[in-house]
Amino acid sequence: MSILNEHYIFRNGVKIPKIGFGTWQIPQESVTNAVLEAIEIGYRHIDTALAYNNEKGVGAAIKRSELDRSEIFITSKLPAEIKGYDEALYSFEKTMSNLALETLDLYLIHAPWPWTEIGKNCTKENIESWRAFERIYKEGRVRAIGVSNFSVSDLMAIENNSDTPPMANQIAFYAGRTQEEIFNYCTSKGTLIEAYSPLATGRALKDTLLNEIAKTYDVSVAQLLIRFTLQRGALPLPKSVTKARIEENSKVDHFTISDTDMVKLSSIKNEYR
Ligand SMILES: NC(=O)c1ccc[n+]([C@@H]2O[C@H](COP(=O)([O-])OP(=O)(O)OC[C@H]3O[C@@H](n4cnc5c(N)ncnc54)[C@H](OP(=O)(O)O)[C@@H]3O)[C@@H](O)[C@H]2O)c1
Repeated sequence: MSILNEHYIFRNGVKIPKIGFGTWQIPQESVTNAVLEAIEIGYRHIDTALAYNNEKGVGAAIKRSELDRSEIFITSKLPAEIKGYDEALYSFEKTMSNLALETLDLYLIHAPWPWTEIGKNCTKENIESWRAFERIYKEGRVRAIGVSNFSVSDLMAIENNSDTPPMANQIAFYAGRTQEEIFNYCTSKGTLIEAYSPLATGRALKDTLLNEIAKTYDVSVAQLLIRFTLQRGALPLPKSVTKARIEENSKVDHFTISDTDMVKLSSIKNEYR
C-alpha cells in the first residue's frame, strides 16, 4: 500500500491522508492541471486557501477527476486578514462557492494575525472567528476545523474559550525549522501538526549536509525531507508543478531514516536563506 493511501485520524475520527498536495503560488490558470496530475499519481489530499486565489481551479480539478467526493480530502483557509464571526461565515461561503463543493474536509484560520501585522494580538477576533468555525462544523458543512501559524498562547486562547479545540495546526516545519515548543504542545494535546513548506519552499534542496544524508539512503533531498516530517508524526504538504517531482515526493515509504539521523535532522537550525 502506498503512503498516499495512509491516514492520520483526527480526534473526532475523521481520517486525513498522510501527504497533502500544496498549491500555494500555483496560479489559477495552471492549478487545475497540477491538481489533476497529483490526483492521477494518487494524491487524495489537496491544500488550498482563499488567499491563494486558486480555489476555483482546484474545484475544477476535483470535478474533472470524477472521483467520488468521499475519496478526496480538501483543506481551505480563512484569510489571515479576515477575522470575526460574520466575516468568517461570509468568507467560508466564498470558498465553498469557489470550490463548488457542498462540504469541506478541513477549514483553518490561516494565521493569528494579518500578514502585514505579524505578532499583533487578535485574540478576541480569533475567538469570534472560531465561534463561526464551530457553527459550520456543528452544521456539518466542514468535517474538521483547525488553525495555522498559531503559537501556544494563540491556541490556548481558543481552547479555553470553546468546546471544540482545534484539530490541526498547520505550521512551517522542516529539518532546519522544527518549532519544537508548538510542535510538542500540539502533540501533547492530540492536535495534528501539518508541516507546510516541508522543503523550505525549495531553499533546502541544495544544502550540503542534507545532500550527504540523502545520498546514504539513495533518495533525493526532497524525499528525505518529506520522510523526516512523517517520521516526526507531522503531515507534509509538498508543492510542485512538475509531474516527475510530484511523483517523486510521494515515493517516501521504501526507506526509513535512522534514529541517529532523525536526531541530527531535528537539531539543524537553518532556514536556508
Ligand atoms: N498555512 C500557511 O501559512 C502556509 C504557508 C506556506 C505554505 N503552505 C502550504 O504548504 C505547501 C508547501 O509549501 P511551499 O509551497 O512553501 O513549498 P515546498 O513544498 O516546501 O517547496 C516547493 C518548492 O520546491 C520545489 N520542489 C518540489 N518538489 C521538488 C523536488 N522533488 N525536487 C526539486 N524541487 C522540488 C518546487 O518547484 P516546482 O513547483 O517548480 O516543481 C517549489 O519551488 C504550500 O503549497 C501550501 O499549500 C501553507
